[in-house]
Amino acid sequence: MKLTKILIAGILSVSFASANDAMTKSMNIMQQGIEQVQFGFINNNEKMVREGLVQIKKGNTMFSSETLIKAALPDDKKHMTNVAVNASKRITADATIIELNLDDKAYTKAAEGYADMMNACSRCHGLIRSW
Ligand code: HEC
Repeated sequence: MKLTKILIAGILSVSFASANDAMTKSMNIMQQGIEQVQFGFINNNEKMVREGLVQIKKGNTMFSSETLIKAALPDDKKHMTNVAVNASKRITADATIIELNLDDKAYTKAAEGYADMMNACSRCHGLIRSW
């Protein structure tokens, strides 16, 4: 009985730790990616923007499931899971929009996509941190 409880507690804390780990990795990758994208736009370095977008998409995929996102939200914000999930979807959509605009050499439009992406990061962080 006692052992079962300990085992269950152990399993729960391991799965929480790995969910948390995925989140931290995801965020760090996205942070590096967005810094690269910003550097790329400021220096008109298209290659840098594109490389940053690849990172962002990779990081975003790691923390995009509704289950993970819901678990990260504070209790009084769980009913807004959809908003947070949509922020995550917007990041991937923006990455594609930026790439397509770069293909067309529409650099101003591409930069607008970057601004929208920043807003999506803040949208979710605002909920997470009740800001
Ligand atoms: C769907 C929600 C969501 C989105 C979208 C999101 N984040 Fe996060 N982010 C989190 C959560 C959850 C945390 C951890 C809690 C905290 O730091 O308050 C976090 C934390 C972070 C951290 C701190 C990580 C650490 O090690 O403490 C960074 C950096 C970060 N996010 C970058 C980004 C960037 C850049 C984007 C946009 C490209 C982004 N995030 C979009 C949910 C999100």
